[in-house]
Amino acid sequence: MQAPETSSPALKNLEEWDDFVAKRYRPGKSQSEFRNYKAEANPTVTEFYRQNHAHQTLDFVLARRKEFCGLAREKKSIWEMAEFLNTLVDESDPDTDLTQIEHLLQTSEAIRRDGHARWFVLAGFVHDLGKVLCLWGQPQWAVVGDTFPVGCAWSDQIVFPEFFAANPDSQVPEYQTLYGIYEPNCGLEKVHLSWGHDEYIYTVTRDYLPEPAQYILRYHSFYPAHKHGAYGHLMNSHDERMFDWVRKFNPYDLYSKGTERPNFKELRPYYEDLVAEFFPDRIAW
Ligand SMILES: [Fe+2]
Ligand SMILES: [Fe+2]
Repeated sequence: MQAPETSSPALKNLEEWDDFVAKRYRPGKSQSEFRNYKAEANPTVTEFYRQNHAHQTLDFVLARRKEFCGLAREKKSIWEMAEFLNTLVDESDPDTDLTQIEHLLQTSEAIRRDGHARWFVLAGFVHDLGKVLCLWGQPQWAVVGDTFPVGCAWSDQIVFPEFFAANPDSQVPEYQTLYGIYEPNCGLEKVHLSWGHDEYIYTVTRDYLPEPAQYILRYHSFYPAHKHGAYGHLMNSHDERMFDWVRKFNPYDLYSKGTERPNFKELRPYYEDLVAEFFPDRIAW
């Protein structure tokens, strides 16, 4: 199945989505203020969600997993991929925006400053490498955005739930029940989430990182669950325990954007060691 065409990019850059999420969950924001997220979504962010919710069907997700999760594309090091991802620049304002590597370093450095384990720092450093999907021709709505299960009813805790009316799965009664194609508390391992950079980087790194890191990478955009407690009926007790790590990670992802650019040159030796501790020279992508 071909990815549906998008006439023009919905977002000026991928950070526009990240920034919207960070604003939505600004610390100290009240529940009623949160409910007002639509006021903060600019037209391109709104259009982005319209496309995401219309096109992320169960068939689409299964096709993308088949296309990318076999990891038959190439063998490259973490560093080669980080540098490749860094070619993704914001065309509108290349001087003031952080590069992709700088966002990764700000996240991982904030984790390191809090004295967390090395695997946790490393999870921060690699968590968005899956965004290379964008450089392989995937539309933005199939790379970033809050994730949610497909093949069962959409939670009203997903942003812009009204946009699901345009999703072909809304016409499949089997997918519109609470459990859909799944069993109660079957565990997230059996649940297909909307396709994006989380599932891809989880697949690439799963053999090398401890399980809490795998959960962090795989579910860091699953806001309906880790922020709003939705989909507990599909999770098992192991998922619930592991989600403590996903929740612990989230503030580092959202709020580590400082005014200071991380000094990549200075930090590089530490990260060379860290990456080499967990990963072989080259891994399959
Ligand atoms: Fe991400
Ligand atoms: Fe991120």
